[in-house]
Amino acid sequence: MRYLVAANWKMNKTAADTVDYLEKFLPAVEDLTTVDIMIAPPFTALSSASLLLEKSHVSLGAQNMYFAESGAFTGEISPVMLLEFDTEYVILGHSERRHIFGEKDSLINQKMVSAVEHGIRPILCVGETLEERELGKTLNVVEHQIRAGLAGIEEDMVYIDIAYEPVWAIGTGKTATPEQAEEVHRFIRSLINELSKGKDEKTRILYGGSVNENNARNLIKEDHIDGFLVGTASLDPNKFYKIITEVLEV
Ligand code: PGA
Repeated sequence: MRYLVAANWKMNKTAADTVDYLEKFLPAVEDLTTVDIMIAPPFTALSSASLLLEKSHVSLGAQNMYFAESGAFTGEISPVMLLEFDTEYVILGHSERRHIFGEKDSLINQKMVSAVEHGIRPILCVGETLEERELGKTLNVVEHQIRAGLAGIEEDMVYIDIAYEPVWAIGTGKTATPEQAEEVHRFIRSLINELSKGKDEKTRILYGGSVNENNARNLIKEDHIDGFLVGTASLDPNKFYKIITEVLEV
């Protein structure tokens, strides 16, 4: 399986910043073709990013999407609009969407189904809060989020990636230990293998939550960690490049 290293820039960088970043970053990763790389800039930078990524092996991603193709949905963006810029991936169910914007599993599932139908590869994000972890509910929460997110598309696993992002590790500088992450990743692998009836061999299970150039190597060494979803450290092209090289060295 090819590993995937994905950048989630969140609400950072203008279109001009995006061009500056990619002009530095793309030549550096030109020859790193044995790993999949994705960058999800804000929507306003998709157009300029897509022009720069045209001749590169780096893929374009979106940070969110509504499920309908068009209509009276003020402030939303549709799969058709993303496809106009050759967007290959979409991050769905990110914990900030769940917790700040109140997205529920049922809405995330509608988005997942729509992404798969439109040929945009969704990365379904799941993860427990600190309170849930302390109550010993981590695996239950993750199982519930995965079953709900994948309802009706379980056998389309070949078109889907998953990201395990413990909420307490996102943007906090606290990473899960490799052992903590591996336990959940192993559980997710067996769950999606069962749900998809064995059609999960192309599905990457990414780890996300304070991944940086210093901790990436020890995490990626674990058997069931197939790449990363990187927030803060991906904003610096040098750090993001370093994380990719750490993945390649394992
Ligand atoms: P972080 O964000 O790397 O800043 O913790 C990860 C994410 O939210 O995808």
